[in-house]
Amino acid sequence: MADEWGPLGALAGEWEGEGGLDTAFSHAEGKVLGSPYLEKCTMKPFGPVDNGSQHLYGLDYRSAMWRGDEENPFHTEVGYWLWDAATNEVLRAVAIPRGITVLAGGGAAADARTFTLRAAKAEEGYTIGEGRYLAANASSLRYELTVTTGDGTWSYEEVSTLRMNEFDEPFSHTDHNTLHRVG
Ligand code: HEM
Repeated sequence: MADEWGPLGALAGEWEGEGGLDTAFSHAEGKVLGSPYLEKCTMKPFGPVDNGSQHLYGLDYRSAMWRGDEENPFHTEVGYWLWDAATNEVLRAVAIPRGITVLAGGGAAADARTFTLRAAKAEEGYTIGEGRYLAANASSLRYELTVTTGDGTWSYEEVSTLRMNEFDEPFSHTDHNTLHRVG
């Protein structure tokens, strides 16, 4: 991929990873569960997007995760990764069909193989939006994502810190996976 996409160039393409692990509170089982998952992800390059003097290049992405032999994915995401070469910043805008949006950001060198993005609720700039039900019952306080890219592979570690009615202390809802290029 051309240099315009900076550290995101290595993520363009189609990906699969079957070694995912999600840790979340399961309402069906009434306890914290570790769920292995298969993930399929597509990232399509676009750009530039011009905001006045700002020129962004990005990836339009769509991701889905399945547990075991479930027909329907138990988690999906759509969104955009963005690279701002002038400020050496990566942004990731995520929509989760649970009533959650995240705009996370962080610094990275143009040739970085690893970078971390963060967002926090009620933070200016990199922030988390959520519906009223979740705000009252399971509110996303903080989000942190570390991405590492390789040759034909990339991986992530994600921590979403939730304030949940079931727990006195903030709960770490975590996800990680390694994906391999399939297209
Ligand atoms: C790979 C990514 C993710 C996967 C696989 C995943 C999976 C899950 C699962 C299995 C549940 C439990 C649903 C239930 O049994 O009631 C859940 C709940 C939830 N997740 Fe995620 N999640 C992911 C990312 C995120 C992110 C990035 C956020 C927020 C920034 C988030 C926020 C929540 C919230 C607020 C709940 C609701 C908890 C509740 O109702 O008690 N998740 N997720």
